[in-house]
Amino acid sequence: MYKRCLYSLLENRLGYLNNNKRFISNTTNIKKEYFNVLGIETSCDDTSIGIVRSDGTILGESKLSQWDIHKEHRGIVPNLASEQHRLNIDKSIDLALHEKFKDGLSIQDDIDVIAVTTGPGLAFSLQVGLEKAKELSRQYNKELCSVNHLEGHCLVVRMENIELEFPFLTLLISGGHSQILVCRGVSDYQCLGNTLDDSIGEALDKAARILDCEFGSVYDGHQHYYNIHGGEAIEILARRASPDANERFKFSIPMKESKNCDFSFSGLKSSLKRYVDQLKSQSGSELSLQDRCDLASSFQNTAFSHLENKLKKSLNWYYGKSTMDGKKKNKKLSQQQEIAGTETMPKREKLNGLVVSGGVSKNQYLRERLETLSKEFDLKCYFPSPKLCTDNGTMIAWAGVEMYNKGMVTKDLDKLFYIPYWPLDKNPVNLFDSNLKEKDQKIRSNWFNDIKNKYQK
Ligand code: KG4
Ligand code: ZN
Repeated sequence: MYKRCLYSLLENRLGYLNNNKRFISNTTNIKKEYFNVLGIETSCDDTSIGIVRSDGTILGESKLSQWDIHKEHRGIVPNLASEQHRLNIDKSIDLALHEKFKDGLSIQDDIDVIAVTTGPGLAFSLQVGLEKAKELSRQYNKELCSVNHLEGHCLVVRMENIELEFPFLTLLISGGHSQILVCRGVSDYQCLGNTLDDSIGEALDKAARILDCEFGSVYDGHQHYYNIHGGEAIEILARRASPDANERFKFSIPMKESKNCDFSFSGLKSSLKRYVDQLKSQSGSELSLQDRCDLASSFQNTAFSHLENKLKKSLNWYYGKSTMDGKKKNKKLSQQQEIAGTETMPKREKLNGLVVSGGVSKNQYLRERLETLSKEFDLKCYFPSPKLCTDNGTMIAWAGVEMYNKGMVTKDLDKLFYIPYWPLDKNPVNLFDSNLKEKDQKIRSNWFNDIKNKYQK
């Protein structure tokens, strides 16, 4: 009865989507109009499950986090994370099956496909999810989709915005990654920029630590906030900053003159550390709350200006303009334009949007700034709803829907392994005139070699 009620509540959405056949299985195994995917996410410290119907309706979700476990270590401890996944995985699946349905969905009758994050991420955490996915797939005879976690972040906006077609540009900003990607189709990505050292999320997490925030919590002078990431703690402190925070503490924007679209956050983090050490030694005591708020605000502001600069460079490059914003002309521009239309970079179609995803995209202040930037380029800006920004099983289930629709299922479960390092771009090339330091050039060529080795196997 309850099930029937819920299904009729979903009728509106069904009615709306009936004309849109994009998400209806075109593979032969599933004959019915819609199919349901159960997604398993265990790549880091959240054991999360999502159940998604192929029209984008969420049928159940759960997330068991591990804040208390890692608190005393002030960071995620990989072997404790995998141990918790093992303890929590069955409970998490059960919670998701029962979240919206009193009697619970049944894997046998209501789930058609299992999707699981197989990389990138912490090896032993990934292993727990993968083992469970294989077990369910074998036990219930369900097809399995092996999902790249980053692809989950990129595609989930299409679940919430049915009109968004490929290609679009994605700024993927999370705890493990800062990347700018052209998303050309399912499992078809071109990476325009990547981080040379820390990711933006990692930099914000470290900044929260430097500013003496406890792991997973912050107090802003008015309220205590619990179970939050470092990036969110920085956002909360920054909201209490004084109007002259940017003048009190000045940070320079990283790689401002570089012609490529890569990121670097470690210098910014070191500047913050220097300010904090200086203030502490001058006062001989802890930082004042106002100093912490002002530092957080100026740091956040500069980190986001860095994101904006590189995003502008990427968009200018994509549309064939100089990446130097009319300053110095990019020498390789004509060469780049030649690339368009080759196998490396298919002819550039108009972008259908700017997608900002990953945990950092939850940041309200960043959202406002990027909305403004995307208008300059006449692009609609898409953000996942806040609960789908940080890691979640729903985005993995949705990636499973997209993959299943393309027939991208695992043929031999015995040959499926987790992949801790798994870049989305299968064929990275040097697209820009690079003025990288020798050390950074080495990092980049190592990435490329690693990727080539992986995809040649
Ligand atoms: O996507 P995610 O859950 O995990 C990875 O795939 O890495 O992202 C987690 C990251 C953390 O670094 C966290 O500090 C950041 O997202 N984050 C935020 C906010 N909420 C989470 N950063 C800035 N502002 C926020 N509100
Ligand atoms: Zn993530």
